[in-house]
Amino acid sequence: MQEIIRPASRLQGSIRLPGDKSISHRYAMLASVAEGVTTIGNYSSGADCHSTLGCVRGLGIEVELSGREVKVHGRGLRGYRAPAADLDAGNSGSTIRMLSGLLAGQSFQSRLCGDESLSKRPMQRIMTPLREMGAVIEAREGKYPPLEITGAELKPIEYAMPVASAQVKSCVLLAGLLAEGMTTVREPARTRDHTEVALREFGVEVESGAGYACVEGPARLEARELTVPGDLSSAAFFLVAAALKPGSELVLEGVGLNPTRAALIDFLVACGVDVRILDLQMKHGEPVGDLRVRGSKLKGGVIEKGLAAALIDEIPVLAVLGAVSEEGLTVRDAAELRVKETDRIETVADNLRRMGVEIETAPDGFRIEGGQRFRGATVESHGDHRIAMAFAVAGLAASGEVMIEGSEAASVSFPEFWSTLRGIAG
Ligand code: S3P
Repeated sequence: MQEIIRPASRLQGSIRLPGDKSISHRYAMLASVAEGVTTIGNYSSGADCHSTLGCVRGLGIEVELSGREVKVHGRGLRGYRAPAADLDAGNSGSTIRMLSGLLAGQSFQSRLCGDESLSKRPMQRIMTPLREMGAVIEAREGKYPPLEITGAELKPIEYAMPVASAQVKSCVLLAGLLAEGMTTVREPARTRDHTEVALREFGVEVESGAGYACVEGPARLEARELTVPGDLSSAAFFLVAAALKPGSELVLEGVGLNPTRAALIDFLVACGVDVRILDLQMKHGEPVGDLRVRGSKLKGGVIEKGLAAALIDEIPVLAVLGAVSEEGLTVRDAAELRVKETDRIETVADNLRRMGVEIETAPDGFRIEGGQRFRGATVESHGDHRIAMAFAVAGLAASGEVMIEGSEAASVSFPEFWSTLRGIAG
């Protein structure tokens, strides 16, 4: 599918974003191993989170869907049934990596597969710790999906992750729920802590601090009534879009502002974006607030070290901001971009160049000079949701029409993206 984006004069209005993708995955998985019925409000409408629901259904868990509300009939930590077919994680790295942790400790064999993009993403990062815990796990060419997991009695481990990845941390913590004793994960840079927060909501004791988290197994999870906050990573597209357009004013309601994600707000402020948090509250251990953003004079900045891990999903749209800012954008220490849904260093560079913007790439990042202009062009999502949406934002600031090929990719995290954009851009 294609979408045409025409240059907009300014953006205005108030929007509510779909439920956070990361939190939706975790609530669904934890609910599936909790005892009793968990109700999840504002569950992500994205295809990825529906892949998670499909997988837990495949494990014999009853899931009822009614609009954005999901009811999961959990059967306890060992209540899954051996799946009759492959569990399909679709495009979702979070589904395959996190669910593997729960499957590693079951008394049956399961096979997890995914689409073409997921089938090229590295899985050794979870295979190494799960094998250390005692699971038998095989992969295509030793590293790619499909994954074949033969569950085992797991032993607790202390694991220092070589890459900063919340999916890996979560996988090991979830496996730790099934192991007898204390499992500890250490991370080289701070990653999102939604798993730790959600586990506490489900009644599990989690010890965590700077650079580590521990759980003691065997654990028992209690069903809950939960609501998912709006997705800050989806908000990023609108925050940048409004900031780019003088005279814009947008309010994004009920957005999740967990400190391990909110580095985005601090970075935008440092880049000169006029963004404010209004009405901050705590819901289920997660801070939630409204954001107000206005058209701004953009300075640009540098993303490196721990900030690269904290902003990893937002870098494609921040590249768009960088190109039109005064000083441009430098990204370093972000080699992880190369193993996302696409190689996001290359897919960002490809589309920027198509729009007449220069970029210099490096193995772990890129440099975009400031003061550049987007021209009308045809760009490609390359099947990556965040690339499709980032270049729609670039299209709003372009001098001519921008055609986004493969626009349907946005539905992986944000099916309502195109209609929401039309609603605020007029
Ligand atoms: C996620 C963690 C990040 C992020 C992904 C969602 C999560 O991946 O890019 O979109 O929900 O834990 P990594 O763990 O691979 O860094």
